[in-house]
Amino acid sequence: MLEILKVLADEARLRILRAVDQAELSVAELVEALDLPQSTVSRHLKPLKQIELVQSRREGTSVYYARGPLFGDPDFRPLLQNRLKDLPAAHSDAAKVDHVLDVRRRKRLRFFDEVAGQYESLSEPGGGWDALSTALAVGFSNQVVADLGCGEGALSLMLSRFAKQVTCVDQSQKMLNLVEERAKEIGTDDKLTFHEADLEAIGLDAEYYDAIFVSQSLHHVSTPKEVIQRASAGLKAGGRIIILDLLKHDHEWTREQWADQWLGFMPEELSEWLDEAGLDIIRIEILKGFVPDLSVLMAVGVKSV
Ligand SMILES: C[S@@+](CC[C@H](N)C(=O)[O-])C[C@H]1O[C@@H](n2cnc3c(N)ncnc32)[C@H](O)[C@@H]1O
Repeated sequence: MLEILKVLADEARLRILRAVDQAELSVAELVEALDLPQSTVSRHLKPLKQIELVQSRREGTSVYYARGPLFGDPDFRPLLQNRLKDLPAAHSDAAKVDHVLDVRRRKRLRFFDEVAGQYESLSEPGGGWDALSTALAVGFSNQVVADLGCGEGALSLMLSRFAKQVTCVDQSQKMLNLVEERAKEIGTDDKLTFHEADLEAIGLDAEYYDAIFVSQSLHHVSTPKEVIQRASAGLKAGGRIIILDLLKHDHEWTREQWADQWLGFMPEELSEWLDEAGLDIIRIEILKGFVPDLSVLMAVGVKSV
């Protein structure tokens, strides 16, 4: 109690409290905003922290100070607010804290202004496609999905972290074994079911799936239209098919090197097949591909309700 009363009588402590009430600040920022020596600021912060009028948070080598739990005490708060309001330096301190916050904002802005246009190539911690695609996969939370021609399962595994159930279909048992092994490693194997099957003959559970992915597998089959029809039969009303394939190209070598049957597709071709399978087209887009000269064609259809 004595310490609390001492606080209300000490101008330096009151100024520190007014500043941390305005924003969470580091010691260096408090020193700058209040124009007090670092030793003075540190000396006062210690008892303020002990009586929980401030609390601290360490970020690497910096320690930030903010309002503590006692600040919100219903009996104490009005008393404290009155004292803070009457502080002679209140007005100018507030302006200086604003200035300190503005320096932070400008530093951040300067950095991003400078890297605009080259941000993707920076190895910024926390960035990268894995993190971005994970965030997008959250959009399939609790959904029942299928991945037709799942290959090594990058998509299936990503979806398995959020979806309720993922059906992986591939002609290659070797691929499916690999996906299962990887699913065990990340602890999502209970969400996945595996089907070694030919997409052109597959009978998916009727009206069962919220979303069906066909990523870079359609150009391998003989009758892509048939595969789209079979996928459509597996979709619930309102369910979506998401096709990623190649845009029509003339790289004959893909037949030999990648076992491709079709040299990609025209947007109109996919549109027609989706339409004939009873799907409304929500999107057809040409995207930048991984290999130069080979663009990706994305088509998204939804089963009519
Ligand atoms: C290029 S990989 C694509 C893998 C993955 N979906 C992706 O986007 O990275 C094509 C996969 O489709 C599978 N596939 C090709 N034709 C198939 C068919 N008729 N039935 C089932 N799977 C097939 C292959 O075994 C292979 O794993």
